Amino acid sequence: MSGVRGKFITLEGIDGAGKSTNLAWLADRLRSRGMTLCMTREPGGTALGESLRALLLDRNQQMHLETETLLMFAARREHLDKVIMPALQRGECVLCDRFTDATFAYQGAGRGIPDEKLVILESWVQAELQPDLTIVFDLPPDTGRARAGSIKTPDRFESENHAFFERVRAGYLSRAKNFPRRIRVVDASRSIAEIQAELKTIVAELWP
Ligand code: ADP
Ligand code: TYD
Repeated sequence: MSGVRGKFITLEGIDGAGKSTNLAWLADRLRSRGMTLCMTREPGGTALGESLRALLLDRNQQMHLETETLLMFAARREHLDKVIMPALQRGECVLCDRFTDATFAYQGAGRGIPDEKLVILESWVQAELQPDLTIVFDLPPDTGRARAGSIKTPDRFESENHAFFERVRAGYLSRAKNFPRRIRVVDASRSIAEIQAELKTIVAELWP
C-alpha cells in the first residue's frame, strides 16, 4: 500500500460517545481549510460493506464471535480497496467513523477474541496502513446510553450489557496507551464546546 498520502483520521468510542456529532463538526472545519474530504464509516462504506453491516447489527442474527470478527475484517478489506485507499491516493482527507481500533475494543476486549488473532487479521487486511490520527471519545457507558436515548431499537451491539461496554471502554484506553502517538483520548463527558476546543488543537497539530 505505497504511494499513499492524504490524511486518514478515525473516530472511536463506545456507542453514544459523540462520534457523529463531532465528525460533522470536524468535517465543516476541515472543509473550511480547503480540504477535500471522504467521509465514511465502518462496518460499511461500500455496497457489500453496508450489507455486512446490516447482518452484523441485526439483533435477530446469531453468529459465532469469530464469524463476527471475520465479517468486520471482510467489510474492512472491501472498504480499503474501494473507498479508503483510492481517496488517500487522490490526496483526500479520509474521515472514518470507526476502524480497526473498534475491532480490538469490541471483538477483542468486549467479546474476548485474543489480540494475537486480531493482529494477524489486521496485518493481512491492511498491511502497514494505520490512521494518521485516531480520536477516542471517552465516556462512562451509562452516560453514553443516556445520551443515545431510547428513540431507536437497540441493535445487536447496543443491546449488550453494562459490563460489555466497560470492557470496550477499557479496550480503547488500553489501545491509546499502547499507541500514544496515533491515538488521542478526548474526555467526552464535557460540553460540546469544550470538546470542540480540544479538537481544534488536535487538528492544528496534524496540519501545523
Ligand atoms: P455516537 O455517534 O458516538 O453514537 P452521537 O454523536 O450520535 O454519538 O451522540 C449521541 C447523542 O448525544 C446525540 O443526541 C448528541 O446530540 C448528544 N451529544 C453528543 N455530544 C454531547 C456532549 N458533549 N454533551 C451532551 N450531549 C452530547
Ligand atoms: P456505529 O456506526 O457507531 O453505530 P450507530 O450507527 O448505531 O451509532 O457502529 C456500529 C456498531 O458496530 C457499534 O456498536 C460498534 C460495532 N463495531 C464492532 O463491534 N467492531 C468493529 O470493528 C466496528 C467497526 C464496529
